[in-house]
Amino acid sequence: MTSKDRAILKIGDQSWDFPIYHASIGPRVVDIASLYKQTGIFTFDSGFTSTASCESRITFIDGDKGTLLYRGYAIDELAEKWDFLETCYLLLHGELPDKSQAKVFRENISKHNTLPEQLHNFYTGFDRDAHPMSMMCGVVWALSANYHNSMDISDASDRMLACMRLIAKIPTLAAMTYRHHIGEEFVSPRGDLDYASNFLYMCFSGESKEYSVNPIIARAMDKIFTLHADHEQNASTSTVRLAGSSGANPFACIAWGIACLWGAAHGGANEAALSMLEEIGTVDRIPEYIKRAKDKNDPFRLMGFGHRVYKNYDPRAKIMQQTTHEVLEELGIKDDPTLAVAMELERIALTDEYFIERKLYPNIDFYSGITLRALGFPSSMFTVLFALARTVGWSAQWKEMIEDPKQKIGRPRQLYTGETVREYVKEEER
Ligand code: ACO
Repeated sequence: MTSKDRAILKIGDQSWDFPIYHASIGPRVVDIASLYKQTGIFTFDSGFTSTASCESRITFIDGDKGTLLYRGYAIDELAEKWDFLETCYLLLHGELPDKSQAKVFRENISKHNTLPEQLHNFYTGFDRDAHPMSMMCGVVWALSANYHNSMDISDASDRMLACMRLIAKIPTLAAMTYRHHIGEEFVSPRGDLDYASNFLYMCFSGESKEYSVNPIIARAMDKIFTLHADHEQNASTSTVRLAGSSGANPFACIAWGIACLWGAAHGGANEAALSMLEEIGTVDRIPEYIKRAKDKNDPFRLMGFGHRVYKNYDPRAKIMQQTTHEVLEELGIKDDPTLAVAMELERIALTDEYFIERKLYPNIDFYSGITLRALGFPSSMFTVLFALARTVGWSAQWKEMIEDPKQKIGRPRQLYTGETVREYVKEEER
């Protein structure tokens, strides 16, 4: 990181200068780390709309162009030409694997996909109708108890092992969460199946009838995982980094990421988008919902529309739309009414002045709910699948943060607008 230019801050007749760093692509940054020391003032950026919280080499987004790159590779190319585990390798190691590296990586993931026996008992503490995301937070957190004493996060091989364990075990945990939720026995992972097929098998295999994995459906599941694998410094990733910046256990950090992802403004949007599409029900009711979305006195928003970073079509939404069609066709689902509502809603919104002016385009969640429902998942599981896929992104970002020599504990400051110093008043005098 070298500084070629300086930014001048002028307040009254005093001025200070700060280094500007150039990104390999994307906006430059002004390094204001010494601002408080030099001037005694803080910057204010609630929601981090103009603040880079770290230096990273993993994922790049150009929100205006609608570009998403993992380690320099375009998301559409990765989703089409590579599989999820190769993408995981890329995110963790920085390069795509060659044949033998990919083989070893797959074998390692397969080797670590089982869970400590006592973790099975953990599920009995959850009500069947507990939200699957609440169970996921709990069981991923519980992994920290198993792998704390034997792990040294200052050791590179221990860090990589923690990441591998997380990526390997998360499908098993997600499938167990689903089975507990629907009141079915757990199904053990199979080493002879690929990552997505094994996950589908653990979810849908019945006691009497073994689930036979349809390769087209497994490929669609795999693509969905790739599309969700990382997304630079979003809320859940920043949560993982902030939690990890204190040196906390990585399994616990990922559990924090899962908790953050749960919210409807983040990962929970796919669940909310599908329920909105179902609530709209028929194409003729769309204008009523468009009207509500524009009404400033109505808190309703079109779920699956808009993005903090993308001010263009979310590149993942395009691939997701195509995957939705492939899945529905393979499963013989014709004339799906929710899909019809989604396509018409998208068409109307993309030509409506309100949405054009605000650059509100469909995001990945707009179509993912329809696809996941067709695959057989209840909407309460949608964010769990997102968390499963994002675990690699969180792990790679956590690892990068720990390995950054400039890394410090995250500690934002505030603009305090509360009471100034007050005298204590006795209870009888209040
Ligand atoms: N429907 C209607 N209007 C919207 C929508 C929407 N979905 N999203 C934003 N707007 C409007 C706002 O009302 C605001 O209008 P104004 O300028 O007239 O006040 C303007 O667009 C800008 O909105 P902000 O809230 O400032 O945009 P921000 O970047 O902070 O929000 C967010 C992004 C949270 C994703 C928002 O678009 C939203 O709530 N979308 C619906 C939820 C959703 O789909 N979330 C998934 C995000 S993707 C992910 O996590 C994978």
